[in-house]
Amino acid sequence: MTSPPDNDLFTAPYSGLSVNSAKRFVIGQLREAGLDSPDLDARLLVMAATGFSHADMIARGTDLLSTEALELMSDYTERRLAGEPVDNILGSREFYGRSFKINKDVLSPRPETEMLVDAALEILKETPDARILDLGTGSGAIIISCLAEAAHAEGVAVDMSPEALTIAEQNAKTHGVADRLTFLCGSWFEPVTGVFDIILSNPPYITDEAMTALDIEVAKFDPELALRGGADGLTAYRAIISEAEAYLKPGGSLLLEIGYDQGQTVFNILQALPYEDVSIHRDLSGHERMIKALLKS
Ligand SMILES: C[S@@+](CC[C@H](N)C(=O)[O-])C[C@H]1O[C@@H](n2cnc3c(N)ncnc32)[C@H](O)[C@@H]1O
Repeated sequence: MTSPPDNDLFTAPYSGLSVNSAKRFVIGQLREAGLDSPDLDARLLVMAATGFSHADMIARGTDLLSTEALELMSDYTERRLAGEPVDNILGSREFYGRSFKINKDVLSPRPETEMLVDAALEILKETPDARILDLGTGSGAIIISCLAEAAHAEGVAVDMSPEALTIAEQNAKTHGVADRLTFLCGSWFEPVTGVFDIILSNPPYITDEAMTALDIEVAKFDPELALRGGADGLTAYRAIISEAEAYLKPGGSLLLEIGYDQGQTVFNILQALPYEDVSIHRDLSGHERMIKALLKS
């Protein structure tokens, strides 16, 4: 008979610390360091260290941690105390109900970006076999969510970072859409051919000045290429909007995430070109977050 692995729940060397006590200990440390959400963070870190589910955390709080789980938990806690976001420590992030692998090479997808998926899915109701282009795909969260929700759609995902594309490809496989999604490396439209029903993007939009005042969690752990939008934060919008016309079908939709104060300027750029029905949409916090425009037919 083969021996069970070291971390087997019934044979592991135990640390003497229960899961509940471990969680309380981590909460205390994170709270003392002034972190924003110590309870949630501690719960997620202990879950990752033990491999416990949410249900296990409730039902098995008095189980003792293995020494291996304790070591992992100490490592995760130290990293969190040094400012690393929980998503980076866990290597994954929830987006539109699915878990996406992330690492230092990709932006951790933000909840407000789910708006782009909602808007694309509205269009896909009318055009179920649409072709979608995602510019600056990062982890692939937007386009993969769209394709996972719309079984007849196809997509192309572009990023300038080959490392980001490696992660996006893994996420596409995990979520079963790799056969409908093509990945291209290059700057915006440079590697792209063909026309699309929907072009969407969450481009980098932080001004050079704001880049100097970012929270440590963003500055240190999100890639600069995903954030820096140039002197006025609009470099990517100008590049994308000026070329999008040639890659959209007549009547096709352009969906762009925007910074809270960029709506009017991006609106004006679009209005000067052959787009119609240009509209700015607010997120759940009431901030302007997305701009939508249709290419005139
Ligand atoms: C704000 S992140 C968005 C990532 C992902 N779409 C999301 O919403 O979570 C912007 C992405 O654009 C990529 N990027 C920056 N400049 C680019 C360019 N010139 N051409 C293509 N991709 C670019 C970055 O590597 C990054 O992955």
